[in-house]
Amino acid sequence: MSHRHATSRLSELPPEELALYRQLDPERLPQHIAIIMDGNGRWAGMRRLQRILGHQQGAESVQFVVETASRIDLPWLTLYAFSVENNLRRPATEVSFLMRLLRTYLVGNVKRMNDNNVRIAYIGRTAELPTEVQETMQWATEQTARNTGTTLTLALNYGARGEIVDAARTAIAQLAAEEPGAPLEALLARLTEERISSALYTAHMPDPDLVIRTSGEMRISNFLLWQIAYSEIYVTDRFWPDFRGKHLLEAIHEYQSRDRRFGGLSVPSKTLNTRKAALVP
Ligand code: FPP
Repeated sequence: MSHRHATSRLSELPPEELALYRQLDPERLPQHIAIIMDGNGRWAGMRRLQRILGHQQGAESVQFVVETASRIDLPWLTLYAFSVENNLRRPATEVSFLMRLLRTYLVGNVKRMNDNNVRIAYIGRTAELPTEVQETMQWATEQTARNTGTTLTLALNYGARGEIVDAARTAIAQLAAEEPGAPLEALLARLTEERISSALYTAHMPDPDLVIRTSGEMRISNFLLWQIAYSEIYVTDRFWPDFRGKHLLEAIHEYQSRDRRFGGLSVPSKTLNTRKAALVP
């Protein structure tokens, strides 16, 4: 199959999803959706299964949701797959299972990613992951690099506070290199929000319009703290292993009912999505 899809892929949506899609305003689709995939353990526990089986089922949900995202031509989808805290605070057996699952997922799904014109990218302190995991990640990126549809970004060994610290260090080093010997005050005066934004792992992406969290918890858990300053937040009680493309479309439907003001006053709905234009005076 071709890597490029010039025509709409909406006809590939299952009928139920197509019907939900038809209820959306195509002018105001989010450009970037970020998902906190929670509840794998509880999904398994309710079935008296091992937690790892919840993660395995969660990987199935990832593929379903990525396919729907690519069919509706969502430019950016970012998934919180493994946090720094997961890495440090879960039993080594669960962590190593998640690492193996990630590799299995990548190896098993690169062909489908290519069929769906999806590129794979990562954010997080990935250099701290096991070498063989990093090699598979790199391989999957190379295999999907020529695709032009949805960019699927997996947050792996990710923590937002760590990211902001990394970005501040990078930005300050850049400023110092630009003007060697400048006094500290002059350097700090040039440390702006734009400088920090462009040093984040996500510098190349727009901020998320919509953050989805599954399994009912009302928290952000150190995910994209800087980038979600004006994101809409949608929490569903559904556990991640039960989340499918139609639930993504339901979340977008709810998103479109929100009045996004970015700290200003209501703007006509046509311009709601042109955030940069709305913010520039
Ligand atoms: C939260 O469930 C989920 C995780 C910590 C890992 C997310 C991983 C996947 C969805 C599968 C692998 C990912 C990819 C990209 C293949 P939890 O264990 O915290 O659930 P609980 O709160 O119910 O215990």
